[in-house]
Amino acid sequence: MTKASRLIAFTMPIMMLIMNLSMVAALWFGGLQVNAGTMTEGQIIAFINYLTQILFSLLMIAFILMMASRAKISTERIIEVLETEVDIKDEESSKDLKITKGEIVFENVSFRYERAKGEPVLKNISFKVESGQTVAILGGTGSGKTSLVSLIPRLYDVTDGRILIDNIDIREYKLDSLRKAIGMVLQKSILFSGTIRDNLKWGNEHLSDNKMIEACKTACAHDFIISFPEQYDTVLGQGGVNLSGGQKQRLSIARTLIKEPKILILDDSTSAVDMETEAKIQNALKQIKGCTIIIIAQRITSVMNADKIIVLEDGEIVAEGNHEELLKNSPIYQDIYHSQIREGDIIND
Ligand SMILES: Nc1ncnc2c1ncn2[C@@H]1O[C@H](COP(=O)(O)OP(=O)(O)OP(=O)(O)O)[C@@H](O)[C@H]1O
Ligand SMILES: [Mg+2]
Repeated sequence: MTKASRLIAFTMPIMMLIMNLSMVAALWFGGLQVNAGTMTEGQIIAFINYLTQILFSLLMIAFILMMASRAKISTERIIEVLETEVDIKDEESSKDLKITKGEIVFENVSFRYERAKGEPVLKNISFKVESGQTVAILGGTGSGKTSLVSLIPRLYDVTDGRILIDNIDIREYKLDSLRKAIGMVLQKSILFSGTIRDNLKWGNEHLSDNKMIEACKTACAHDFIISFPEQYDTVLGQGGVNLSGGQKQRLSIARTLIKEPKILILDDSTSAVDMETEAKIQNALKQIKGCTIIIIAQRITSVMNADKIIVLEDGEIVAEGNHEELLKNSPIYQDIYHSQIREGDIIND
């Protein structure tokens, strides 16, 4: 691309210079000829006309050559992306198994990003999530929360140890069947330009409106959607710019719920939602039968009602248990609790 741009920057002024110089020359020598009486003004004008036409065509040819070199480079880039091999693939032994319970076990899992040096991002992580349980992961920024949950749908493969779902190593599932059973709401909600309905039904075009509305109600998104004049047909700008942060998050949750996943992962998905609405969403999620939920959060109020809380620090589990147990036994949890909740604050369960 730089090569093409440099070529354009270099040739354009030269072409223009040649064009204008030849014009000057034609006028100069033409003028002399007219004075000498061997040429008429009309002939000069005609000559200049032909000259510009020819030079203009040459300019166009040069332009086309430049565009062609640009197109060639762009094509190479696109092909490079299309031909990039996916690192994580189905293994030959992988089977088309169905995840029915959604029980997750981490066994001594360590993980390091490829090409990253130094300490691994996750060290010796072991824990178990029973089917249908809600587990919360609490930890400061950069403690490895997103990395930990990314391992479950195999966005990355573990460096050491293994992860089991329903007692089977996740590498034995076909990627397709694994990811179909897992719904993940990313930390940064990604919405497309299009209507709310398009965004929600993305990948599930044949879904009934009832199911869509039901998912929106669970995610506390239905009320704000129907408050728009065009309701579900409201057109969103690129990346959902005409929605608030919390509205975007709730739409993303609804879109994931539509998939009816066995395992639901919410990566800081309610950080921009007020506490009351967050509690409502969590209560509604609990009503979904047989869905294992992993919630990542920074706020302690977001995790208090979970069946189990895992506190992560620098890629290690430093405390594990439910709210009452941790509050009694874990100094780290007590610290977080007291730093986030001022005395006298009323906490609604
Ligand atoms: N794609 C990546 N490649 C290399 N290193 C990464 C990558 N993503 C994250 N990291 C590193 O891994 C560590 C943990 O990051 P992670 O995103 O898991 O943190 P987190 O707990 O989710 O933080 P936050 O609360 O800010 O979302 C960080 O030190 C980060 O620099
Ligand atoms: Mg994160």
